[in-house]
Amino acid sequence: MSSIELRHVKKTYDNGVTVIEDMNLVIPDGSFTVLVGPSGCGKTTTLRMIAGLEEITEGDLLIDGVRMNDVDPGDRNIAMVFQNYALYPTMTVRGNIEFGLINAKVPKEERERRIEYFSRIVGLTEYLDRKPSQLSGGQRQRVALARAMVKHPKVFLMDEPLSNLDAKLRAQMRTELIALHQRLGTTFVYVTHDQTEAMSMATKIVLMNEGKIQQAAEPLTIYGDPANKFVAQFIGVPTMNVFERASLPDLGFSDDVAWVGFRPSRALFAEKVLGSHPNGEKAMTDAYVPKQGDLVFGGTIAIREIMGSEIIYQAETGFGNVSFKTFNQPQVDVGTQVKLCVDRSSLYLFGSDEKRVVA
Ligand SMILES: Nc1ncnc2c1ncn2[C@@H]1O[C@H](COP(=O)(O)OP(=O)(O)OP(=O)(O)O)[C@@H](O)[C@H]1O
Ligand SMILES: [Mg+2]
Repeated sequence: MSSIELRHVKKTYDNGVTVIEDMNLVIPDGSFTVLVGPSGCGKTTTLRMIAGLEEITEGDLLIDGVRMNDVDPGDRNIAMVFQNYALYPTMTVRGNIEFGLINAKVPKEERERRIEYFSRIVGLTEYLDRKPSQLSGGQRQRVALARAMVKHPKVFLMDEPLSNLDAKLRAQMRTELIALHQRLGTTFVYVTHDQTEAMSMATKIVLMNEGKIQQAAEPLTIYGDPANKFVAQFIGVPTMNVFERASLPDLGFSDDVAWVGFRPSRALFAEKVLGSHPNGEKAMTDAYVPKQGDLVFGGTIAIREIMGSEIIYQAETGFGNVSFKTFNQPQVDVGTQVKLCVDRSSLYLFGSDEKRVVA
């Protein structure tokens, strides 16, 4: 159990480039904190500073309130799992998991108890006598996790541990990691550039861009109450539609508002249109009746992606392409003229500095 705190942390690499400016962050004890952001924003650098693998140029790193800047990585009681977890190819799964424990002089009986316990947790009990080459990618990934867990770390750091796996296995491992975190109660710090991973697993998301924290909050706060245009457009599939206020119909917003956005799920048909159900049967869609002050516009459907119960469309409008999605509605063909509407309360407003303006 451990909380982690970064106070005014700065990182300048040897080449003189500062990649982390002035980072202030609290990672709560027992949280599943996910650092997310585009490539190069400083996620790995931050994780490596916590692990002690990278020197901190300025500022303090505290674990459970104790300054850790000068503590050796091996003395921080932290385990780290990388994207390219190297397993020992000549050792069995058991050997790989046990190796670190032998090095740490854990007695044999205790070693066996932990191997038994953690291999069960990650679902590897039946594979203990196999070599890594006889395992699937996901099973190898689980060996890497078990190998880190048996050391009973206070903090578990993971850097894109699922990026080598196919989509189905990644989704399965996401669920397993959530369950694992609930069972262990250990502080997890997880790095990814994948917002779906961040949204689905995190108890706290730290969204970074260009070495700065854009917002740190619970997933639903990040999604529903983004602090700025960058956060709004980073989270959500498809991304939030954002247009210059001047290009949209005049809705009487104050002069502070430079940008107006809305989620694809919030754009609804304002008039019923003809579509078809998957069985070919023709039917009219539902329609929402716009109120005074709502954003209402016409468009032509240009692209349609059928995802199952959900359909994602792109419509060409007078002010640009708009993404929208429908749920359990008949499919509307490409080329169809539509009238769309966004409830005024679903509009996100941003100033010219791209910070959120709450009307
Ligand atoms: N050893 C180094 N020396 C100089 N610059 C470095 C070094 N390591 C990383 N950087 C730079 O620091 C910045 C942040 O890198 P970092 O690896 O932390 O990004 P990241 O968010 O993990 O990206 P990705 O999603 O691509 O893994 C990048 O611009 C990178 O080029
Ligand atoms: Mg990285």
